[in-house]
Amino acid sequence: DHTNADTLRTPIVAVLGHVDHGKTSLLDTIRGSAVSEGEAGAITQHIGATDIPLDTISEMAGELIDPSDFDLPGLLFIDTPGHHSFSTLRARGGALADIAVLVVDVNDGFQPQTEEAIDILRRTGTPFVVAANKVDTTPGWNPQDGQPIQRSLEAQSERAESMLNENLYEIIGQLSDAGFSADLYWRVQDFQKNIGVVPLSALTGEGVPDLLTVLMGLSQRFMKEEMAIDVQGAGEGTVLEVKDERGFGATIDTVVYDGVIRNGDTIVVGGQNEPIVTEVRALLRPRALEEIRTEKKFEKVAEIGAAAGVKIAAPELDQAMAGAPVRVVRDRPLEDVIAEVKAELAEIEVDTAEDGVVVKADTLGSLEAMANALREAEVPILRAEVGDIAPRDIAVAETANQDEHKAILGFNVDLLANAESELENADMKLFTDEVIYQLIEDYETYVEERER
Ligand code: GTP
Ligand code: MG
Repeated sequence: DHTNADTLRTPIVAVLGHVDHGKTSLLDTIRGSAVSEGEAGAITQHIGATDIPLDTISEMAGELIDPSDFDLPGLLFIDTPGHHSFSTLRARGGALADIAVLVVDVNDGFQPQTEEAIDILRRTGTPFVVAANKVDTTPGWNPQDGQPIQRSLEAQSERAESMLNENLYEIIGQLSDAGFSADLYWRVQDFQKNIGVVPLSALTGEGVPDLLTVLMGLSQRFMKEEMAIDVQGAGEGTVLEVKDERGFGATIDTVVYDGVIRNGDTIVVGGQNEPIVTEVRALLRPRALEEIRTEKKFEKVAEIGAAAGVKIAAPELDQAMAGAPVRVVRDRPLEDVIAEVKAELAEIEVDTAEDGVVVKADTLGSLEAMANALREAEVPILRAEVGDIAPRDIAVAETANQDEHKAILGFNVDLLANAESELENADMKLFTDEVIYQLIEDYETYVEERER
């Protein structure tokens, strides 16, 4: 139902992987090289995202890219901090990211959060490439700053190259164990069938031109149709995080993936209890090139179009949920938009049983991922909610019929201060972790030990 206002939007690229494998460094390098290419003005820093335009990508990729091969405007990168679940990134029941970069430390190979990311990529059908990072740590490495990886390999000793290859084939084997046929990206003929592995270093920048080239190529070839949007249409987005901001109260860091959102717009946002209907008071963007995590000063903008990251300030947002939909009400009845948001939330609603464990998670997406994993493990759920662990949750967990179900499984959540004292005398067990399968494994071990 797109009109002739159709334009191609920027593909959304999620960068994910295990803690410390180099996600943020990779983005810093992409930003940094972009600046050194003299294109500083062209990069736009968003809330939780960085927009790199095609011109800049093409300068960085040098001989690898001919910009006239592309008509997508560039790439919008989203960093996912190690403690933050990639599963937050959902949109219209699917994945918010159009494409993903799975960062794997060449020395460490697959780690728990790598496995978790792979599971979610598989479930959401998100195309991805693997960035085999930190090639510069190979003993005897001869760094070739910012060069394409083949150039860099030519400069390496046979010994260094074969040591790197050993690690790369280890990763390719791990991908195969996870059910993905993969190869070094220059050997991949069909990127829909095979996962491309790009050896690179976020530290020296070698191989980064290759990564950008592969990402542009993949987006252009396989996603062009999905990128066609009505730039004047009602904005649609996903809440990444709910944050208190001085002078603004509760705000939502949002990725807009369709249409445009304007100051003063009425929006509907998924909330803890019911959809929140409110009016945009301010649309905030970080000042140019400042790091979002340390950014304190924002710039007010009148409107922002997809794809983009923006902080939305509006009344009543304290009940908003990470992972929930955001919809602009424009040209159609408010009731319809509320119904749409409700329908989307209902999709994520977890099936609960008469008896079972209590589940708490940081975002809607991670709650859904927890529910899926528990269903597979045949662990019933009594109650599942987004949010930190409160005294009420402890009380609910204690009401479970079977003793083994008197438990709270908390994923990426904290124990609220007033719940701490209650926990001491509580007739239930608390499990928390930042890795879903670890959390479930701990619970299962506990159940097994009880039965002995
Ligand atoms: P979380 O956000 O905590 O999950 O970590 P991350 O994946 O963003 O990792 P980050 O970029 O913070 O890097 C972790 C550490 O690895 C830092 O000390 C980096 O300097 C180092 N590092 C990242 N990439 C490279 C690389 O290519 N080579 C070398 N030698 N070190 C790297
Ligand atoms: Mg990071």
